[in-house]
Amino acid sequence: MGVILGIESSCDETAAALVDGARRILAQHIASQDEAHRPYGGVVPEIAARAHAEKLAPLIEATLADAGMALDDVDAIAATAGPGLIGGVMVGLVSAKALAMATGKPLIAINHLEGHALSPRLADASLEFPYALLLVSGGHCQVLRVEGVGRYRRLATTIDDALGEAFDKTAKILGLGYPGGPAVERLALEGDPRAVPLPRPLVGSGEPHFSFAGLKSAVLRAKDSGKYRDADLAASFQQAAIDCVVDRLKIALASAGEVTALVVAGGVAANRAMRAALERLATEYALPFVAPPLSLCTDNAAMIAWAGVERHAMGQSDPLDFVARPRWPLDPDAAAVRGAGVKG
Ligand code: KG4
Ligand code: ZN
Repeated sequence: MGVILGIESSCDETAAALVDGARRILAQHIASQDEAHRPYGGVVPEIAARAHAEKLAPLIEATLADAGMALDDVDAIAATAGPGLIGGVMVGLVSAKALAMATGKPLIAINHLEGHALSPRLADASLEFPYALLLVSGGHCQVLRVEGVGRYRRLATTIDDALGEAFDKTAKILGLGYPGGPAVERLALEGDPRAVPLPRPLVGSGEPHFSFAGLKSAVLRAKDSGKYRDADLAASFQQAAIDCVVDRLKIALASAGEVTALVVAGGVAANRAMRAALERLATEYALPFVAPPLSLCTDNAAMIAWAGVERHAMGQSDPLDFVARPRWPLDPDAAAVRGAGVKG
């Protein structure tokens, strides 16, 4: 029953956590960089890397202190090794390598997406493979069949923007600042989801992929027209996004084979309207719906430590010369899709 130290630094959250094989989060700390990036309306990679470098070591110390543990009590050190902003990833990975080298403990290089994909199993001990996972964050928008640790079949991906990115861009159009998802969700509560006619890109298509670029452009045109209230724009955008996700998921589920549950993970899983729609879909398909608590949905180190627990239990570790990977698809066999660029 190992204790794993997890380190996360792939985007704009610096985080450390200690998790054990009994699914206990012994301690964790997260330092958000929202304030540093807010003036720019998005994450600035250079600022992010510097902030990770400043904050990570004290965060790891504080996490160990909270758990009343020393590095010697840890069984392995797991760090996000990609995909993500390479400067930040390198800060976390190099720190993990240094700790592993100094203590002689194994290093486990974690795919950030695997962290998200396995996090529901940290929250729910009864969740068995294979499950269908909707992974929706700022950088990623995929449906995966999670068949085991390290075994993923990608059923769908986005051909342009990720869903969180669409929320963030809509927030920017509406002048709501960064990060955009929670702000759009709050404003949408005061709006009418039917007030603004917006497109549902790819809805009705036989391929399960996502597209949000056209939706974002339509929000921009509607805003520029001056005809609509911002709250109505936010609510209508959110509804269009949810309609797209539900329609696309239905196509993906048709090719998923047997699954034990419909699971959602990633930052956008924090959206309550999205969760409610997914729960209805799961009920329709007679599947249990699993959504980790919000604190495990957005970027965190507990999910990285947990992926470390799962890999450590299988006897896996990585060499100290493991190279950070800015791109790292979970399913290397997935066919490239039209227009898909940097989304893995
Ligand atoms: O998983 P995450 O913390 O980081 C990435 O790996 O990208 O996801 C962050 C994304 C951002 O785009 C943010 O706007 C979105 O998740 N998000 C939300 C909500 N909370 C966070 N989107 C919609 N509604 C929310 N409540
Ligand atoms: Zn993430």
